[in-house]
This record gives sequence, C-alpha cells and structure tokens, in this order.
Amino acid sequence: MAFLKIFLFAYLFCKCFCYALEARVTTESQHELQHLHTIQLSSLLPSSVCKPSTKANESDSSLKVVHRHGPCFKPNGEKGKWPSHTEILLQDQSRVNSIHSKLSAKTSARLDKMKEKGAATLPAIHGSVVGSGNYIVTVGIGTPKRKLSLIFDTGSDLTWTQCKPCVGFCYQQKEKIFDPKRSKSYRNVSCSSTVCSSLESATGNIPGCASNKTCVYGIQYGDSSFSVGFFAKETLTLTSKDVFPKFLLGCGQNNRGLFRGAAGLLGLGRNKISLVYQTASKYKKRFSYCLPSSSSSTGHLTFGPGIKKSVKFTPLSSAFQGSSFYGLDMTGISVGGEKLPIATTVFSTPGTIIDSGTVITRLSPHAYTVLKTAFRQLMSKYPTAPAVSILDTCYDFSEHETITIPKISFFFNGGVEVDVDVTGIMFPIRASQVCLAFAGNSDPSDVGIFGNVQQHTLEVVYDVAHGQVGFAAGGCS
Ligand SMILES: *[C@@H]1O[C@H](CO)[C@@H](O)[C@H](O)[C@H]1NC(C)=O
Ligand SMILES: *[C@@H]1O[C@H](CO)[C@@H](O)[C@H](O)[C@H]1NC(C)=O
Ligand SMILES: *[C@@H]1O[C@H](CO)[C@@H](O)[C@H](O)[C@H]1NC(C)=O
Repeated sequence: MAFLKIFLFAYLFCKCFCYALEARVTTESQHELQHLHTIQLSSLLPSSVCKPSTKANESDSSLKVVHRHGPCFKPNGEKGKWPSHTEILLQDQSRVNSIHSKLSAKTSARLDKMKEKGAATLPAIHGSVVGSGNYIVTVGIGTPKRKLSLIFDTGSDLTWTQCKPCVGFCYQQKEKIFDPKRSKSYRNVSCSSTVCSSLESATGNIPGCASNKTCVYGIQYGDSSFSVGFFAKETLTLTSKDVFPKFLLGCGQNNRGLFRGAAGLLGLGRNKISLVYQTASKYKKRFSYCLPSSSSSTGHLTFGPGIKKSVKFTPLSSAFQGSSFYGLDMTGISVGGEKLPIATTVFSTPGTIIDSGTVITRLSPHAYTVLKTAFRQLMSKYPTAPAVSILDTCYDFSEHETITIPKISFFFNGGVEVDVDVTGIMFPIRASQVCLAFAGNSDPSDVGIFGNVQQHTLEVVYDVAHGQVGFAAGGCS
C-alpha cells in the first residue's frame, strides 16, 4: 500500500513537474530558434570564385553590383591584388574620420570663422568623403557608348570618370580610359554657365576656368585622393532603355587615390548634381540596391519606382539635409532578441546616416559598449581571438564547423525593425579570427553610420521624393 502511495505520488509529481520542465525546454528552444543564427562556418568565409546571386530578381532598370575586392570584379593584370583586411579597415576609418569632420558642428563653426577672416582656401575636410567605396556597377558613357566600371557612392554627388589625354595623371583602371574626342555627344560645360557655379556646393571647391571657357571641377576626398578635370555634358547609358543625354559629369584629367581598378565614381548623394536629381524626371528620385552577402556574390542597383510591398519605410532625418548624406533616426538595437538598455538620446544626439561606402557600422561609444557586452555574454562558449584594427570582439572558430550567433536588429523611427543578415554581424579575417563587425566612435557627438556590411542582402530603398528610406529582407544572396 505504502509502495503504491509512493508510486502514485511520484507519478503525479512527475506529471506536473516534468510537463512544466518539458514546456520550459520547448519555449527555450523556440526562443533560441528565433533569436540565434546557426550556420556553417564556411558560409561566412568568401569563396575565391564568383558565384552570382540567384535570388536577385533584377528589373529592367537594374545594374549588377559587384564588390571591388572580390572575384566578381577583375581589373586587367591586377587579379588577386586585393588590399588586406587591415588595409580595408584602415581605409574605412579614414572615410569615417572625413564624414565626422564634414558633419561635425565644431568643423562648421571653424569654417565660418575662417570665412569671416576671409581665408581664401578651404581646408580639405570641407571636401567630399574618401572615395574608397567598395561596390561597383558598369555603365555606358558617350556615343558610341563605352562601358566603364564606377564605384557607386551614396555619400558623394559628382559623377566622374578618368579622361584622356590625362593631362595630369590617370591611375590604372579595368577598362580603357574614356576618350572624349571619340565620342560624338561630349560637350565641355562653359565656365560662365550656372551649372558650373553649382559645382561649389557639390564639391566644396570653387570651379576653375580653362582657356577662359571650359568649366574645371576639382574634388578632393578625405584622404589624399582627388580628381580634377573638365566639367562636361555627355550621354549616360544605364540600361538599353534608360539613356540620359547631356548628363553632367566630370572628365578627370588628374586623378589619384584609392579608386584603383574603377574608372571613377557614380554619385548618389543628395546634392542637385547627383545622379538621383539629374535623372529625377524618369526615376522620380527613387533607387534601391542590394549588397551581396560576400565579395564572391553579386547584388543589384535598381532605379525607379518599382517597389516590393514588403518594404518598411522610415523617414529621412532632417538633421543632415544640407549635406550629401542620408540621415535616419535610429532608436535602438536588439541582441539575441533582447532590446539593449540604451537611452534613445544616445542615438538621437549625434544622429545616424546610412552610407554605401562605409564598411563597418559605427555606434556612439556608449551604445557600442552595451552591444559588445551583451554580445560577449551570449558568445562566452567560444574562445576569443586577438582584436584586429578597429574590431575588438573576435573569436576563434577554427574548432567548429557549425556556429551559433545571436541575431542583431536595428530599430528606426516609425517602428521599423531591420534584422541584420548573419554575414553583417561577423567580419571574417580567417576561421581563427572572426570579429563582431561593429565599432564605437571615439566621441559621443560623432554621427553614427549604418555601414555596408550590415546592409548585406537587404533591399535598401531610397525614396528621396517622399523623404524616406525603406528596408526589405532577401534582396539578394
Ligand atoms: C522575377 O519575378 C517575376 C515575377 O515577379 C518572375 O516572373 C520571374 O521569373 C522572376 N525572375 C527571376 C530570375 O527570379
Ligand atoms: C580671359 O578673359 C579675360 C577677361 O575677359 C581677358 O582679359 C583675358 O585676356 C582672357 N584670356 C585669354 C587667354 O583669352
Ligand atoms: C574641352 O576643353 C578643354 C580645355 O579648354 C579642351 O582642351 C578640350 O579640347 C575641349 N574638348 C572638347 C571636345 O571641346
């Protein structure tokens, strides 16, 4: 009888307790599924062969996007000569430094003071940001059209390409250098025209005048990169159906810097001279892109209003209206499904921009510390690895085939949540050194930057006419 009682008790106890335990285990694993990425380590490491994206459903007005330092872009005779990870991170920091000085209130005040004093030369910091963006599209320039690979950049406005006779200097590029003498549609812009004077706001430099008639542009980037040449009207062919006669672009006669391989720059910024405004009658100031998950895949740059329904829009911030940059109001970050305890003022005080040319997302120092701490806690089962340049949270995955990484999401004004792709969370140097792909700014007043690694595989829609930027998952692979 006693035995039966004990048995019954044990049975009932287990019935309640074990059931509860089972239920708890189930919710925990559901929680894990929702808030963790479990992936093959190999899927984070780029391949040495180009595997074009199969997901990209390119519309009529799409251009293929390739990474400049990967197997899908092969400059003549320079194959495989890609910069090291450390060099890329160093160049990225120069771009960020130049963005910070350009947008900083302190710099504006200093410039105003210099203007009062009648200083004739503007410091380089007033110029555009570094030209070392990473993503390339191929467009047609001239009549007959010549195909040229340009770096596209949402942080720059002027479109330019190296031009013969290269009066000063031309660096090596993949295609033959453009020769205006062989194009029927090339026209120099006169230095007395109003478009010539509009260059000042786009480049930060007062345009010059060659032989008393030809408008001369000069643009220097945050490092010592620059392009100087004739300002011209020329036919720009984006796709067979989308041809823009009299497009204003720079015909670069003296070009130096980190553009190597690419023939120049395609400016997608917010100044009137950018491609967005020059093609507004056709594309309604709307474009979108998808940056691929690795340098061995491809994405797309698409112009015009054709938009998927699933895109979630956040308003463009009014904070950076006078600049080339697209400002967004970031409001929070979650790691592993938990919203981080960061006051929204930490984001709103310096503001945030989205940039196609910055590699690693920059957060204010406090936000980065909180993010890093939460991430490290969830990654404590993995051995750590030494820091690399600006990346200070690195892991050694060499003993693992499969790895589990907490999901990270960004929140923006309007309740927009953007899930960062797994390839946007970790920056692989090698299997034994894979780092959290975020960095902190050194000053809390420096602007935050939504960088291109964190934009991987997202369809990012710039709807400038309606003052909004949108995001959808699965734009490319
Ligand atoms: C793209 O989408 C259209 C319809 O939305 C479909 O008919 C077409 O097959 C798709 N193309 C690719 C390459 O997936
Ligand atoms: C350029 O224009 C200025 C003013 O119109 C004139 O004085 C000068 O002689 C011109 N120079 C040349 C090389 O034509
Ligand atoms: C454009 O202007 C430059 C400088 O005046 C001149 O050397 C060049 O021949 C001009 N090109 C054309 C096609 O007019």
